[in-house]
Amino acid sequence: MNPKLIINFKTYKQATGQKAIKIAKKADKIDSEVDIILCPQPTNIKEIYTKTDLNIYSQHIDPIKPGSNTGHILPLSIKKAGATGTLLNHSEKNMTLKKIENANQLAKKHGLKTVICANNIKTIKAASNLNPDYVAIEPPELIGGDVSVTSADPQIITEAVEVSEVPVLCGAGVSNNEDFQKALELGAKGVLVASAITKSKKPKKAIKKIIGEN
Ligand code: G3P
Repeated sequence: MNPKLIINFKTYKQATGQKAIKIAKKADKIDSEVDIILCPQPTNIKEIYTKTDLNIYSQHIDPIKPGSNTGHILPLSIKKAGATGTLLNHSEKNMTLKKIENANQLAKKHGLKTVICANNIKTIKAASNLNPDYVAIEPPELIGGDVSVTSADPQIITEAVEVSEVPVLCGAGVSNNEDFQKALELGAKGVLVASAITKSKKPKKAIKKIIGEN
């Protein structure tokens, strides 16, 4: 299994609208053994799907079926737009365990991969019992900062790997190849990155710096 780099566009201005398409196209040009997965805003999924060959995950889905659900993200819609997976319970979009469970099941029904994010080991364990494709440990206090989870809190990654029944990803503050390699050494199967790429003036270079391509 190739290591994963999930690029979370969040709602950064630099990764909104046509700027999101530009980052996606640049990422698509990188030839690497690392699986690059894009996580744009839902409004950009369709266009990125038509213009790149990369896998696209939604940043969130709601545990709902078609019907009267104003303002929600319907799993079927993101599937039809071209997404192949979704994040669930990102620390910026927390869900109850029941909602995570329902959303995970609905995603599976539509053939979507799931990455359940968690702030702590207890939630990693509960999330892994729901049998997603991945769980992802992200200490919220390190998100968007300059210090990587791999150096600030390596133990949380090894503990997540120990308690989880499914492959573990990690994220928060990851910005270079040392962080990426350390994550893999600690047992993670890949990383989630946002600010180091989306806020960079040269996103392609920022991606290559993380995965170690010249
Ligand atoms: O989902 C990834 C994210 O929360 C990590 O953010 O900016 O620390 O790379 P960042």
